[in-house]
Amino acid sequence: MNTPSSPLTDSFGRKHNYLRISLTERCNLRCSYCMPVDGVKLSPAEHLMNADEIFSIAQSFVKFGVTKIRLTGGEPLIRKDFPKILQTLSTLGVELSITSNAVSIDRHIELLKKTGVKTVNISLDTLSAERFHDITFRNYFDKVYQNILKLIDEGFKVKINAVLMRGVNDDEILDFIAFTKNHAVGFRFIEFMPFDGNQWKREKTVSYQEIMEQIKTAYSKDEIIRLQDAPNDTAKNYTIKGHRGTFAIISTVTNPFCDQCNRIRLTANGQLKNCLFSQKENDLLTALRNQEDIEPIIRKNISSKFAVRSGMEGPEFEDPKKHQQNRSMITIGG
Ligand code: GTP
Ligand code: 5AD
Ligand code: SF4
Repeated sequence: MNTPSSPLTDSFGRKHNYLRISLTERCNLRCSYCMPVDGVKLSPAEHLMNADEIFSIAQSFVKFGVTKIRLTGGEPLIRKDFPKILQTLSTLGVELSITSNAVSIDRHIELLKKTGVKTVNISLDTLSAERFHDITFRNYFDKVYQNILKLIDEGFKVKINAVLMRGVNDDEILDFIAFTKNHAVGFRFIEFMPFDGNQWKREKTVSYQEIMEQIKTAYSKDEIIRLQDAPNDTAKNYTIKGHRGTFAIISTVTNPFCDQCNRIRLTANGQLKNCLFSQKENDLLTALRNQEDIEPIIRKNISSKFAVRSGMEGPEFEDPKKHQQNRSMITIGG
């Protein structure tokens, strides 16, 4: 179905078969790189998609060719109807996954298994409880850490996302690599990216190159093994010889990977974003509520997608003002 005439194919021939749905703009953590210091203006409840609307929009996307759906937030697990949403989406026959901070994921293990979720991506930016509090303003380190171990134990494929920020957690790169020695996880270093309200500065981003340089101080060329990346992967994957886990780098700032992009985003208030950095959005929820056909809106949205980072291919990407017209990360969901 996702052919050149499909509403999901853009003008560069990229097929968008991966839909990321944000379930909520709220979170039980306050990570500084994601949540603006002054908080965010939350959408009124009646402007958010309900469980039936989420299912209905997702069903249309699957009809057009989506084969993978990731649930994000805010923190998706804080939505009371999360079990219902996951159960209904699991009837669509697509790969289902979730990105979570893992604070309460232990309560949902059986549900995740029952609905066929096999991989979960968890945010964890430090291995120190004290620093966890500095970054997230909450004391949930032990809970998150234990839940990660539990997920691995229960047989889930776990990826851990660490947003690296200079002077905050960039001294832990080798500790994170050491963590992959005995733990079968995919540890991903993410270059800190600019969004509305997150006080991004280029100097705070730790680049792919810097991360690799640090790793090379502790491991020889022969020990650092480049792995084959999955199709459309955002990360460059590696392992250290003899380690059970892998590590990877997501380098949106210094080395974007948009030529392979297959992702589209639906925000919790039902807006379609064709790029993480798009300033323009299209309102699917209002159209659905008015019983309009959403296909032409999706087609228009995807066909207007830029080649790279929503048109910010060069140094203009590094101007924080450019990102004030986008959302804050908490309302996009990554
Ligand atoms: P997989 O499905 O496992 O590949 O997950 P993912 O890495 O796409 O999702 P996750 O929610 O774990 O996001 C990890 C990091 O990748 C976050 O910082 C996201 O913002 C970033 N990311 C996810 N999708 C995109 C994308 O389309 N473009 C860019 N530039 N970054 C992305
Ligand atoms: N830059 C890079 N990654 C970010 N995330 C949240 N905010 C940012 C940012 N400013 C990541 C978190 C989360 C994922 C969905 O997005 O690590 O795991
Ligand atoms: Fe796709 Fe935009 Fe991410 Fe590039 S920056 S990979 S175009 S979502």
